[in-house]
Amino acid sequence: MRILSGIQPSGTLHLGNYFGMMRPAIELQAKGEAFYFIADYHSMTSLFEAEQRRKNSLEVALDFLACGLDPKKSVFFKQSDVPEVTELAWLLTTLTPMAMLENCHSYKDKLARGLSPNHGIFAYPVLMAADILIYDSNLVPVGKDQKQHVEVTRDIAVKFNHTYGETFVIPEEQIRENTAVVPGTDGDKMSKSYGNTIEIFGDEKTLRKKIMGIKMDSRAPEEPKPDADKNLAIQLLKLVAPAEVATDFENRLRAGGLGYGDLKKGLFEQYWNYFAEARKKRAELSANLDYVNGVLTEGAAKARTLAQTVLKRARRASGLE
Ligand code: ADP
Ligand code: TRP
Repeated sequence: MRILSGIQPSGTLHLGNYFGMMRPAIELQAKGEAFYFIADYHSMTSLFEAEQRRKNSLEVALDFLACGLDPKKSVFFKQSDVPEVTELAWLLTTLTPMAMLENCHSYKDKLARGLSPNHGIFAYPVLMAADILIYDSNLVPVGKDQKQHVEVTRDIAVKFNHTYGETFVIPEEQIRENTAVVPGTDGDKMSKSYGNTIEIFGDEKTLRKKIMGIKMDSRAPEEPKPDADKNLAIQLLKLVAPAEVATDFENRLRAGGLGYGDLKKGLFEQYWNYFAEARKKRAELSANLDYVNGVLTEGAAKARTLAQTVLKRARRASGLE
């Protein structure tokens, strides 16, 4: 089974990225042949600073490796090191109905927020389809917001196979229901575009301040809170703390007597502890960038060999060769 996923280097990675995509991807690397990449072409739709892209791409590589991506088990590379994917995107775009892209939630959300989208934002799901199809991927672990893009990929693949003959493997998304949407510090979906993130790595003081700044209601500490399971800090605690610790906090909040300050302090400690090992690993990797770059170069070579084979299949099927 081939597993594939990508993540954009468009900002600092946060708990939503980690629980929604990175951890499932890391766990899956034992279950098949995993291909994971840094979607730098995709980041061009929204980030227009070259140096920032370079820096973010390296940061994502460090984050992913520190969190447990194992280059012995997974092929890890930068999207643009396999330029064949842009050629495949063209082959696919000619079979993609405009209406299908106009219907994509992520595109509609951007329109609704008043952005004036560039063509790249509109065409983005087609490039994503090319990413998936060019590696004959079976399974795509992503957060819920990407589900529709994998559905679009399937539609395009089916249409290509129907038009030009069996060429592509039809992929499935994998979405973890319990972490499908990680809430941000304001209770909405955690996202770098909403300014409500808790980063995976960063300065202790800043992150403590973010967590202590999570808004709570004005009920007194001693008041029982029957809706404790809906509390944002409890929801986040369930992700980063051992089950019994999270349950204990939840029960104390429900019974009354646990103040929000103490709850958030507990959340910070559990969160900080959860990433302690990864933090150490990240510091080691940062001091050994030659190794990190070597991993990406080796990954790109493997990915490119496979991509060339599949692209050739598509070129032949469609009469380009
Ligand atoms: P952002 O919303 O911060 O821009 P991306 O769109 O770059 O994040 O998402 C990268 C990956 O992380 C995707 O697979 C996405 O589904 C997942 N992801 C992002 N935010 C969340 C979240 N709050 N909950 C669950 N998964 C998320
Ligand atoms: N669109 C994804 C995101 O923003 C990133 C991505 C690009 C991706 N290509 C992909 C994810 C292929 C899975 C498979 O999160």
